[in-house]
Amino acid sequence: MKALILSGGKGTRLRPLTYTGAKQLVPVANKPILWYGIEGIVAAGITDIGIIISPETGEEVKVKTGDGSRFGAKITYILQSEPAGLAHAVKVARPFLGDSPFIMYLGDNLIQSQLDPFLETFNKQKLDALILLRPVPNPSAFGVAKVDENGRVLQLVEKPKVPPSNLALVGIYFFAPSIHEAIDKIQPSARGELEITDAIQNLIDREKHVEACNLDGWWLDTGKKDDLLSANQIILDSCIVASTELKVDAKSQIIGRVQIGESSEIINSTVRGPVVIGENCRIENSFIGPYSSIADRVTMIDADIEHSVILQGAKITGIHQRIVDSVIGQRAQIINAPPRPKALRFMIGDDSQIELV
Ligand code: DAU
Repeated sequence: MKALILSGGKGTRLRPLTYTGAKQLVPVANKPILWYGIEGIVAAGITDIGIIISPETGEEVKVKTGDGSRFGAKITYILQSEPAGLAHAVKVARPFLGDSPFIMYLGDNLIQSQLDPFLETFNKQKLDALILLRPVPNPSAFGVAKVDENGRVLQLVEKPKVPPSNLALVGIYFFAPSIHEAIDKIQPSARGELEITDAIQNLIDREKHVEACNLDGWWLDTGKKDDLLSANQIILDSCIVASTELKVDAKSQIIGRVQIGESSEIINSTVRGPVVIGENCRIENSFIGPYSSIADRVTMIDADIEHSVILQGAKITGIHQRIVDSVIGQRAQIINAPPRPKALRFMIGDDSQIELV
């Protein structure tokens, strides 16, 4: 069994963050989203992993993630020259996949459940494809499945205007090598992509063995800001344990579950967990409230923040209103000269959002 993780694509929905970086490397609780997927796959006993990368962000994914040794896996990077669809990515990965069955894992999906039970079902029943389904309130944003009363998959449609059910396709699929033949038979969709949903539909139409399982536990497709903040909240809630040896000055207060990285200084500040703070940060005269992730080399002076994700190298100074529900990109600066601003001066990139609420 091999695994294929898709970490290419355009990442348009997390712009402007993803103009410069891969959306799969955006951190959740200070760890790239992609790494949670790798860890889940390795935990299921699969260590031969191919990762699809794009020409724009592939180098960053490679440098950050490495050859797999940190996960106990062997990673092969596979360049997809354009984001021509999920089934196109499988086609490009054919030399890596050979005749092996494989898990296909979309690099921006996060799930709570372990993969082992699904893998067991897939192997035991000798399926051509196993898909995971989950009821959602907005099925039109996903691939959608129509199933009969026995849970048998009848039809799959990609982002339908009129969805045949509320069952969304989760971005984790189990395939036998017969999927390659199905991919060879399909044509690009109206949006110009080779859709994996069409390839699975082709298997269904030819009466191959396709089954669906319901996914329990949380599932997050971290493609948008609010999903990213929810993912951050859920992971901080479930993974952060209180550190016993936190080095902070006497005027600072640490409440609840907080982790602070090497060489970070907390001066005259309050941190109320769950919170994770990376390495080499300087937090001074500030408040960091629950569900915040602060990456490495962040500076916060005279600033209040809560339920937010701050990427590495960002700087926030002199902001006395509380910053909430925010994602601040790498090296971004929000600077205010105290005591009160007489004017606001901005240098804001395309697609940025500033909400004064
Ligand atoms: O998250 C679940 C949904 O994922 C499913 O319900 C849909 O059926 C499925 O098509 C997919 O929809 P998305 O709109 O979320 O797909 P997206 O374009 O965001 O791509 C998913 C991942 O695959 C992402 O990490 C980028 C990567 N990718 C995407 C394309 C189109 C590639 O590596 N190559 C590609 O050509």
